[in-house]
Amino acid sequence: MHSSSALIDIYRDYLPMSESTPVITLGEGNTPLVKAVNLPQQLGFPKLNLHFKLEGLNPTGSFKDRGMTLAISKAVEEGCRGVICASTGNTSASAAAFATKAGLPCFVLLPAGHVALGKLAQAILYGAKLISIDGNFDQALNLVKDVAEDCHLTIVNSINNYRLEGQKTAAFEVIEQLGKPPDYLFIPVGNAGNISAYWRGFKLWKNMGKAAMAPRMCGFEAAGAAAIVLKRPIAEPETKATAIRIGNPASWKEAEKAALESDGWIDSVTDDEIMDAYKLIARSEGIFCEPSSAAGVAGLIKHLKAGAVLTDSTVVAVLTGNGLKDPNAAMSAIKIDLNPIEATVEKVKLAIGI
Ligand code: F0G
Repeated sequence: MHSSSALIDIYRDYLPMSESTPVITLGEGNTPLVKAVNLPQQLGFPKLNLHFKLEGLNPTGSFKDRGMTLAISKAVEEGCRGVICASTGNTSASAAAFATKAGLPCFVLLPAGHVALGKLAQAILYGAKLISIDGNFDQALNLVKDVAEDCHLTIVNSINNYRLEGQKTAAFEVIEQLGKPPDYLFIPVGNAGNISAYWRGFKLWKNMGKAAMAPRMCGFEAAGAAAIVLKRPIAEPETKATAIRIGNPASWKEAEKAALESDGWIDSVTDDEIMDAYKLIARSEGIFCEPSSAAGVAGLIKHLKAGAVLTDSTVVAVLTGNGLKDPNAAMSAIKIDLNPIEATVEKVKLAIGI
């Protein structure tokens, strides 16, 4: 038993924590790893040993909380006066929540018109100062870098190394939950921080002898924002998966290294492939993730369709964010008739139709 339920306390020995680091926690981490039971069959690979890491069950609904608990705790330790970030939505929600808990002001720069409703609502309610900019995430991040120093604010994007250090705890949990490392990890790639963080975690436990091997890291960008795959920054990235609508990933090099060192790869998936996977995960497994989260599973399906045989492998797909973040995506993905019927037994039976 751990004496504290705070993630950074549980994994304190593997993190840059000092005696004087305060523990700012919202009860993050320890997210479920759930085995897929219907999806493998539906894909035509009934023996596929697939597990989902449900990161949408973190306190603010995304994996960002793992890194944010450490970034904000260190910011408090270092006596910072406030925090700032650029975000496609989830980072801003997480930063706003943890900053509030720590009593710090939080400023978030958001690409106007491209942030899912739930994320916006969170940042507003947690009390962050929202600054909507006429530009995309990459431009917002450049602005953050330009203003942070002058305003004496701490950047809590994943260019803040504490973010990735905190996020690497997800790899430890996966190993503990499976009882061993998986053979493959399928994961979405946006700013490329998360894939880099998982690799840090898997590599660390392998090097420390706590795990026999490390998985192949398989990352997936959206086709309209596939800078790493195309080997050039994308000036105007476009994808329905707004969380990964990023044209110049900050952790580009570390993510490439993760793929190379682990004998994995980074590829892209189209919006159609992402939205198909998004619906399939909900309808086969009862798991509601956000569209961007489905990019890893879309990548897995693409790989299987290309002829890969993963029957003897253990596969983990990371579902990075909660589907409730983006209700509009769900409503436009499935067309249904919501017109009310007469409130009678007869009409309801007719509607049920069985
Ligand atoms: N999935 C979700 C739900 C995300 O919010 C993000 C990134 C990613 C995947 C990609 O992770 O950037 O580490 O490669 N969201 C950031 C944000 C950019 O501002 O919330 P990554």
